[in-house]
Amino acid sequence: MSKITAAITAVGAYVPEDVLTNKMLEEMVDTNDEWITSRTGIKERRILKDPKKGTSYLAIQAAKEILRKTNLDPEEIDLIIMATATPDMPVASTGVHVATQIGATNAFSYDLQAACSGFLYGMSTASAYIESGRYKKVIVIGADKMSSIIDYTDRTTCIIFGDGAGAVLMEPNTEGLGLQDEILRSDSIGRASLKIEAGGSLTPPTEETVAKKLHFVRQDGKTVFKFAVSNMAGVSEKIMKRNDLTNEDVNWLVAHQANKRIIDATANRMGLNDENKVLMNIQRYGNTTSATLPLLLSDYEKNFKKGDNLIFASFGGGFTWGAAYLKWAYNS
Ligand code: UT7
Repeated sequence: MSKITAAITAVGAYVPEDVLTNKMLEEMVDTNDEWITSRTGIKERRILKDPKKGTSYLAIQAAKEILRKTNLDPEEIDLIIMATATPDMPVASTGVHVATQIGATNAFSYDLQAACSGFLYGMSTASAYIESGRYKKVIVIGADKMSSIIDYTDRTTCIIFGDGAGAVLMEPNTEGLGLQDEILRSDSIGRASLKIEAGGSLTPPTEETVAKKLHFVRQDGKTVFKFAVSNMAGVSEKIMKRNDLTNEDVNWLVAHQANKRIIDATANRMGLNDENKVLMNIQRYGNTTSATLPLLLSDYEKNFKKGDNLIFASFGGGFTWGAAYLKWAYNS
């Protein structure tokens, strides 16, 4: 019997309609379009303005797109892994709600929190289940309503993040396509550099934590930038070497969209001198945390050919980071 690998067989995505441009941010904080564009590559982001809608809303739209595109009966889905740093609520699981809302009544679901690497870790988990033969149809969703944890008076964070969702269906493959290899890492040296300090078990919410704005995301951008460049580029280069891939062999770099300069540094280290191979949508969506990787897949799906070599790379709070090598499984 041929070996079972886990392949991506469909992609879905959703971003809210409301656009927050650099020009609009100029009215809100002391910043300007030139600074934001040159330091990050971001021009605008999408914001889910409806206060009654949380991350599950974004995720449901992305998952429904997969059902529409594939005609998949939701009752056939075995598992939904919901990567998010902004669950609807701390308890109960957002993934469970998403599964029920899309009619995945035979599936189980749970949330996975690994900040910006959540989707990559989720793909790894889904693949392990599929390779073992335990489950056959797994949806991995990356979705975040970052606007719910951003202080829009803090110019060091509010210019970066946006809201969005992306999802993939993963299924068994016997042609050798799908996930080939991965390197996943984490290190709590980053715990202080990128965090929401309060609201968890260590510092539960109080009037004081609210007054001190400790429920918003804070980051020491310079430190995160330094670790992001060296770690994301490091694992991306390593996974190429380990799989004997040259820059010619790599068709696409699917890198977390946190800062164009970090993506460029990673591509550089991999020797990818053809910029068309480096997927980029940060200019339109900013950093959507768990959603950046599947949003890229959705935007570029039509460019991928069966057998193409994709390198995924991510870096996020925690710190969490990693790279994965995947062979694309279909022509669209
Ligand atoms: O996805 C999770 C992982 N997150 C990341 O990977 C983010 C990594 N970090 C970054 O992308 C960058 O560090 C930032 C985009 C956040 C900041 O860029 P930077 O080049 O590292 O700027 P900086 O923090 O060193 O600030 C440079 C200057 C400072 O002024 P002084 O002290 O030199 O006078 C800041 O106060 O720019 C100032 N500044 C701004 N100016 C205009 C900071 N934010 C802004 C702003 N507009 N929005």
